Amino acid sequence: MSIAYLNGEWNPMSETKVSVLDRGFMFGDGVYEVVPVYQKKAFTLREHLARLGRSLDEIKIANPLDDAGWASLIEEAIERSDEYDAVVYIQVTRGASESREHVWPENTPATVLVMVYDAPLLSRKEVPPYKMITLEDFRWQKGHIKSVSLIAAGLFKNEAVSRGADDSILIRNGFVTEASSSNVYIVKDGVLITPPASNSILHGITRHLILSLARGDGMSVEEREISVSELDDADEVLISSAGHEVWPVGSVNSNPVGNGEGGVVWQRLDQLFQGYKAGVQ
Ligand code: PDD
Repeated sequence: MSIAYLNGEWNPMSETKVSVLDRGFMFGDGVYEVVPVYQKKAFTLREHLARLGRSLDEIKIANPLDDAGWASLIEEAIERSDEYDAVVYIQVTRGASESREHVWPENTPATVLVMVYDAPLLSRKEVPPYKMITLEDFRWQKGHIKSVSLIAAGLFKNEAVSRGADDSILIRNGFVTEASSSNVYIVKDGVLITPPASNSILHGITRHLILSLARGDGMSVEEREISVSELDDADEVLISSAGHEVWPVGSVNSNPVGNGEGGVVWQRLDQLFQGYKAGVQ
């Protein structure tokens, strides 16, 4: 059962409503987090709360709760939802203004939303490699902020789906940035390569974990720019996110990647990830 907490009240998600003057609704003026829940426990919660804090700092909203406050709210949400494998969605906006002004209101409490809902991908049995297309990354230059303004992500995803693909890999000035809602990696000659954690990409929590698991396993890892020709020439292409964990790409612009089935590095990373998950839950 999905559940939502909004500014102190608990209700089913479908019955939860915000004001039209909420700046999240009116201006997309807010940030969010998506935290996986495995066996009723939030995964990598500390890292997600740290990134929420950084996103809030960047957009100059005071964090409405400290980490202990967030953790107990999230625990209660998971408990009330009765979901086993799910996601916790957290959103903080600048709150509801008196009127539609661009200047930020003073002394307006932030809106706090926490929802827990089912995440079918997380209890997957199969991992069908994704078909990707490449698209020009026209987004703003603060991709490290997990902003609720996701118009671009929707345009990219829907363009991919309308062309028979699963998602898009974004290219800026001839180099890969990320996918519409996940980070991107290539594998070449056994080396795992991913773009650096700059302002062009979201600093994925899954990305951070994957890189540390890979390094701990003795893999060669490079955080550097990936050109379009390297993407075309890759032995493997992978994506990662809270909802996908680590996921293979079977084709890019209809050209198969490797044998199109997901390669040995993806298999090893998935094994390491599942092992880590089992160890901490
Ligand atoms: N998306 N890049 C973008 C643009 C993202 O939106 C996401 C996450 C990631 C991966 O970050 P993480 O590993 O912390 O989930 C990278 C979430 C899941 C979403 O919008 O639903």
